[in-house]
Amino acid sequence: MKLFNTKRASPNKLSADQIAVDIDGLSVRLNQKKVLKKISMRIPAFSITSVIGQSGCGKTTLLNAMNRMNEIVPEHQTTGQIWMDGRDINHRRENVSRLRTNVGMVFQRPNPFPMSIYENVCFGLKLQNKNNRRQLDDAVERALINAALWDEVKDRLHEPAGILSGGQQQRLMIARALALKPQILLLDEPTSALDPLATLFIEELMQSLKKHTTIVMVTHNMQQAARISDYTAFIHKGELVEFTNSDKLFTNPKRKQTEDYITGRYG
Ligand SMILES: Nc1ncnc2c1ncn2[C@@H]1O[C@H](COP(=O)(O)OP(=O)(O)OP(=O)(O)O)[C@@H](O)[C@H]1O
Ligand SMILES: [Mg+2]
Repeated sequence: MKLFNTKRASPNKLSADQIAVDIDGLSVRLNQKKVLKKISMRIPAFSITSVIGQSGCGKTTLLNAMNRMNEIVPEHQTTGQIWMDGRDINHRRENVSRLRTNVGMVFQRPNPFPMSIYENVCFGLKLQNKNNRRQLDDAVERALINAALWDEVKDRLHEPAGILSGGQQQRLMIARALALKPQILLLDEPTSALDPLATLFIEELMQSLKKHTTIVMVTHNMQQAARISDYTAFIHKGELVEFTNSDKLFTNPKRKQTEDYITGRYG
């Protein structure tokens, strides 16, 4: 097994400037249901953090909290703070569209817009009124190269995105997020529908991205979390049970609940 993660300090020992997202007592209610309960975790910058746990434990909701996507749910309530760059992202004066530019998201299922490959990648830039053709061409090329998709699509940029395979669509979604140069990239099960080769592509892509991006990834695949992420958070029924270096969590978990989960006793 190829192990990417090198030795790193535990999240609690890092200084404030090494932390990309500081989640402090986060609780989220969606339609009266308490989905997340007092989650506190400091996500280290320029690293990959995996979020694991049973289906329905709140992983997607945790990602959504980091770019205020839970607000789409008509009845939602968030308490606690999420600090990024010294600002509480839930503050009423925060600019949500700027937040979502800084915090890119790739959803659980690829959701390309019904338009061309090219238009999908530059969609967010056009929303920001960036319309200079040459600059858009450059941005699209750079994002597709960074998402390891350029070679496969460079001759058919103006064909509909829907013609791409599932794995290519997933990389297209990553390119769409990367075009906005996010500081933080949230990936919700980015490889769950992919074959081993496409999975390897995405895993290697994440390794190269973390040089300048902080990645938070949800995965059901514990080998994957152990293999590629620096840190892993285990959530159970909306509570954070354990969050530490991946090698520690998978070889020597502190909590019995974590051990039961990673050894397949439930979940
Ligand atoms: N809009 C909503 N209204 C009410 N409850 C919701 C809403 N969205 C999610 N939930 C509930 O919140 C809990 C957590 O959902 P979430 O999608 O975060 O889970 P998850 O860990 O990502 O699961 P999976 O692994 O299946 O994707 C679930 O019990 C779900 O039913
Ligand atoms: Mg989910």
